[in-house]
Formats: sequence, C-alpha cells, structure tokens
Amino acid sequence: MNIPILTIDGPSGAGKGTVSRSVAKRLGWHYLDSGSIYRSLAIAVLDEKIKFEDIAEIANVAKTMALEFDCDEELAVRLNGIDITSRLPTEETGNAASIIAAYPEVRTVLLQKQKDFHKAPGLVADGRDMGTVVFPEASKKVYLTASAEERANRRYKQLKEKGIDANLVRITEEIEKRDRRDQERSVAPLTAAKDSLYIDSSNLSVDQVIEKVMNLVP
Ligand code: C5P
Repeated sequence: MNIPILTIDGPSGAGKGTVSRSVAKRLGWHYLDSGSIYRSLAIAVLDEKIKFEDIAEIANVAKTMALEFDCDEELAVRLNGIDITSRLPTEETGNAASIIAAYPEVRTVLLQKQKDFHKAPGLVADGRDMGTVVFPEASKKVYLTASAEERANRRYKQLKEKGIDANLVRITEEIEKRDRRDQERSVAPLTAAKDSLYIDSSNLSVDQVIEKVMNLVP
C-alpha cells in the first residue's frame, strides 16, 4: 500500500512547525520535524565540544547518537537518554544546526533517520528538503514562506513566551544569515519543489494557512 506523505518545506520561522503539527493531528498522521534532528545533532556537537570543521567526527556523532521522539501535544526529544527539549529552540542551537546541516556527509547519515518516520497511516514531514530530497515521491507538497521581518517577529515572540532571552534586531540578522546559508549550500539547498503549492504566510493567519494545506489533502 502507498502510505501518503505531505511535505511542508520553507525557511526558518515561516510557521511550518505549527501548521505541520496541526495538520498531522487533524489527519491522524505521524509528524516529522526534521529540523529537530539537525538541532539535536548540533546539541551533541556543542556538548562534546567538537569543532565545526571536524566533519568526520560530526558525521560519526550523527551515526551513533540515539534519538527518541515523543510527539504528543508538544514535541519532546531525548538525546542519548537525556531530555534536550528545552534546548532545541535556542538561537545557538539553530545556528549550529544550520552550519552542520551544510555537510553532505552529515545529511547522508541523517537521511535514513528521517525516512524511518514514513509509517502508516501517513506522514507530515516538515523541513527544508522534504519534498526535494528526502521524500521526492510525496504526493502533496507545500512550500511555506513569509518575509524575513515577519518571521523574525514571530520567532521573537515565540522565544519570549518560552522565557528565552531574545533580541529582535539580532534575530532578523540571524534569520537572513541562516536563509542565505540554507539557500546557497551545495547539497539539498532550500528551494521550492517544482510540484509544490507555494504559500506566503506574511499576511495570513495560522488558521488560514492550515485551511489551504488541508484543502490539498483529499
Ligand atoms: O527548521 P529548523 O529551524 O529547526 O532547522 C534548523 C536548521 O537545520 C536549519 O537552519 C537548516 O540549516 C537545517 N535543516 C536542514 N534540513 C532540514 C531541516 C533543517 O538543513 N530538512
């Protein structure tokens, strides 16, 4: 049987997480937050004080790390048995993730970990290259974006709500820098799959975006 996949790709802060989680819940499908896999690896690399240039060692950590995902209401992640959920959203983690995500060796190792999420009755996969590289066979694809200013505003609010210290100007700069890094890297760069539905959420509410995405699924 063909297990359906809906991919939602786009830049950081476009609302992919909220939309994907909600759509997965409504459909009763599994949810893959692929960014959290890169973020978890980044935490392992930071904790083990591995240099960002040491690609072989980073790929080795990617191979050996044990990740457990618990996606009930909110995503919870354990790395080698330790709960790292609260460390996932920080800017430090996001920036480190985007640096190591540019290494082809790392992406190859993490590919199978992502494909493992493809289980019945269906999967909503959220990331940068879900529709282009990891699940090119997906029948439904969305590219969700928003202006850099709007995304920075949203990220700022999110971090504040979680009680994490944040600075709007710095977040905007970091988002623009991360966009460039994700779009310009040589492997799996952030780009809309040709067969994706393009949604600019700058002037849309979360519910409006969810409705557009739900309309895609029969
Ligand atoms: O989506 P999120 O902000 O959690 O992703 C963190 C970083 O992980 C991104 O900036 C990107 O560099 C990387 N990533 C990726 N491919 C994915 C998901 C995330 O390269 N599918």
